[in-house]
Amino acid sequence: TSSHGHGPFIAAIDQGTTSSRCIVFDKDGRIVSVDQKEHEQIFPKPGWVEHNATEIWTNVQQVVDSAVEKAGITAKDVKAIGITNQRETTVLWDKNTGEPVHNAIVWQDTRTDALCRELGRNVGQDRFRRETGLPLASYFAGPKIRWLLDNVEGLRERAERGDILFGTMDSWVIWNLTGGVNGGHHVTDVTNASRTMLMNLHNLEWDEKILASMDIPAAVLPEIKSSAEVYGTTASGALAGVPVASALGDQQAALFGQTCFAQGEAKSTYGTGTFMLMNTGHEPVNSYNGLLTTVGYRIGDQQPVYALEGSIAVTGSLVQWMRDQMGLINSAAEIETLASTVEDNGGAYFVPAFSGLFAPYWRSDARGVIAGLTRYVTKAHIARAVLEATAWQTREITDAMTKDSGVELTALKVDGGMTSNNLLMQTISDFLDAPVVRPMVAETTCLGAAYAAGLAVGFWSSTDELRANWRRAAEWTPRMEAATRDREYKNWLKAVERTMGWLD
Ligand code: G3P
Repeated sequence: TSSHGHGPFIAAIDQGTTSSRCIVFDKDGRIVSVDQKEHEQIFPKPGWVEHNATEIWTNVQQVVDSAVEKAGITAKDVKAIGITNQRETTVLWDKNTGEPVHNAIVWQDTRTDALCRELGRNVGQDRFRRETGLPLASYFAGPKIRWLLDNVEGLRERAERGDILFGTMDSWVIWNLTGGVNGGHHVTDVTNASRTMLMNLHNLEWDEKILASMDIPAAVLPEIKSSAEVYGTTASGALAGVPVASALGDQQAALFGQTCFAQGEAKSTYGTGTFMLMNTGHEPVNSYNGLLTTVGYRIGDQQPVYALEGSIAVTGSLVQWMRDQMGLINSAAEIETLASTVEDNGGAYFVPAFSGLFAPYWRSDARGVIAGLTRYVTKAHIARAVLEATAWQTREITDAMTKDSGVELTALKVDGGMTSNNLLMQTISDFLDAPVVRPMVAETTCLGAAYAAGLAVGFWSSTDELRANWRRAAEWTPRMEAATRDREYKNWLKAVERTMGWLD
């Protein structure tokens, strides 16, 4: 049993890119218990990435049961469950059997590159930007749905008949959690819906014109709800009977967990990829510098809050690639040890455009490069270049954020798994020439989902109460000479140029 045996509690499920986890929180926002399980990454072809949605649902059930058991509590101690998830990853399933019709297509997957270019022909990449805040890119869910409808035999007819449901992972988890084939609720929240490229940002409804342009039947779509309200009741497992009361895309959940409730507040989350979001208040702000406009959150029937986002596809997953595909390190933590054995990158720059380039370039045709190689370069220099890649990409999106928002960055609030890497955090501070700060609870994604669920059921009374839980745990300050930073940034940008137009 746990030392925080006082309850009541809130549980959060984070269905992420590499794993699913469940965390139980107490009223002070402290972690009571955690369980986590990785799922398989399926790479059928270069540029393709898939997940098995059935495996994911099985894992979700296991981590919930085991987190509850580790906390030494029962369903009656838990006031609500919050959901957060990897965004954009797309699954279609049969509502009569609950079976996915195909592996889920992951956000990193580039198979819809040609389709996106076709959709933008004669009109350009910004065809749907005014309505959706997004450029045409393989990252988003809409084109992935279209690909499945075109490529799974007989699927379009079944979809038109109303037998097929679409979901990002929030919808998939909530539908299953609330009963699946026996009355599961087919819903999504505004933040997840804002990543489909099918929702109109201004009225928060599915956009019929875009659905027609992409040839997607409205019958497959979930109902769009706010991020914090009761969607239904958990049907089975250790938390049977507990209301499911929030859903937020993981990056929006982290914004919420970092308590960025005021306009101009921002955070950057270092996970598989890295995503910086800035709260822009109640109006969507257009980007002219390669950022996305997205929904930050909406609490019940309050006004929605919008955000600007800088998305980086590959950061933590580059470290995983070094470990699993290259075998240059045995554990993710070793990247720091190895990189620390050298003073600098030895002239090498690694641009991990594995899923094309996201912000601020939006080039699905880019592919990764290591530039500047000489015989001098060792694997330690490459390890350093790997960490610098995350830091330079952060610099690129913070530059764009400053231009779009007019808000000068005084400090960067960070969270996520990679923030345990001190060398990386120092490098980011050096490259931004700004302090980097990390809160006590680095699991802000789950915390944000828990906060939203807790607000929905009255467990917490207001966002002000949540703010009081934010405490600084660590801070890094810049140490790099301006001349060095400028020279290195130029070299980085040269390397970035070499990734583009690799396809065709
Ligand atoms: O948009 C993709 C993002 O939601 C994935 O986040 O933390 O699973 O890499 P993460």
